[in-house]
Amino acid sequence: MPLRILIAILLCPTLLVAAQAQEIVDFARDVQPILENRCIDCHGPNKAKNDFRVDDAETMSYYIEPGDLESSGFWTDYLVTDDADMLMPPPSPDHPDGGMSPGELAIIKLWIEEGANHNWKANGPVEEHEEAAPPQSTLAKLFIFQGLFHPASTHFPVALLSMSMIFLGMSFFLGKPLESAAFHCLWVGALAAVPACIMGWAYAMHEGHGNVSLDLVSSPIDRHRWLGIAVTVFSLIMVPIAYSAYKQENYRKKIIWFVGCCLVAIGTSIVGFQGGELVYGEGHYEKEYEKLFPSTPVADADTSVEESTSEEAPAEEEVVVEEETETVTPED
Ligand code: HEC
Repeated sequence: MPLRILIAILLCPTLLVAAQAQEIVDFARDVQPILENRCIDCHGPNKAKNDFRVDDAETMSYYIEPGDLESSGFWTDYLVTDDADMLMPPPSPDHPDGGMSPGELAIIKLWIEEGANHNWKANGPVEEHEEAAPPQSTLAKLFIFQGLFHPASTHFPVALLSMSMIFLGMSFFLGKPLESAAFHCLWVGALAAVPACIMGWAYAMHEGHGNVSLDLVSSPIDRHRWLGIAVTVFSLIMVPIAYSAYKQENYRKKIIWFVGCCLVAIGTSIVGFQGGELVYGEGHYEKEYEKLFPSTPVADADTSVEESTSEEAPAEEEVVVEEETETVTPED
């Protein structure tokens, strides 16, 4: 008897480990079909809203804390959120309320709790276009890594180049002795824009835009990339021009300096705005503005008092607003 208890005690941890290794949810069998069904149309190889792809383990890992449901934004912010704008998938004709079914949610929940193992089976048509990426050298990895500082570091040249224009304007129109400040902001800003471009290039690769193209019409990345480079080159060209205008009392040169400075400042602002759109999604200002000042009037207070279902009314309206904003942005 004591021996049996001893054996049981010894076996217990082994059994536990064995049980843990045996996960109930199998990603390829249980989870992948759900993602293919409900998400891949908008977050896959053909279309990747906000650059989010459910078939990419790395991207998914940014949103999931394996084993910790409440820390997984994927779950809390997009699948079970009360915010109709955030709920995924968005409402569609088949699923007018949006969101996943309780059954699907249960599987996703268990999958995250069991460690969110993501081994996307690439046998379907989904991954076809993707060739196996060649292994990266340490240098290439370092290059990509420094690119992560692009969003943070770009503010430096943006601010300097804008200040350059403001100082120059103040010195020309208000007679302040700020020409020298304007010139120094320009050259430092122009030089700072160069690493910002290099980091941006690496950051684009990190975000899966390694294939460089010049598709200015339909690719927001290309618009941002090439305008950023153009503005940087232009601001560098402006440095010697500004220098000679700064050193000489030549009225014509000063005008050229000022116009060039304005173009640089406007250009950097546009590039900065494009960058914001890439991070926050297209039309993020409009969306937030719409939330602040909804164009659809709020339900009539008097009529809703009498109705027993008055509490449901605002919820329904939110869904309608959500659909409208979806159709307002028809770009892709
Ligand atoms: C009909 C298209 C569509 C479907 C289907 C869809 N989404 Fe989205 N998703 C979007 C759009 C559009 C956005 C951007 C929303 C915004 O920025 O306001 C988005 C954004 C997201 C984001 C945020 C990415 C980021 O960081 O900005 C996540 C996460 C997400 N979706 C997950 C999912 C999941 C999971 C599914 C499947 C259950 C899904 N989506 C299905 C259209 C879709």
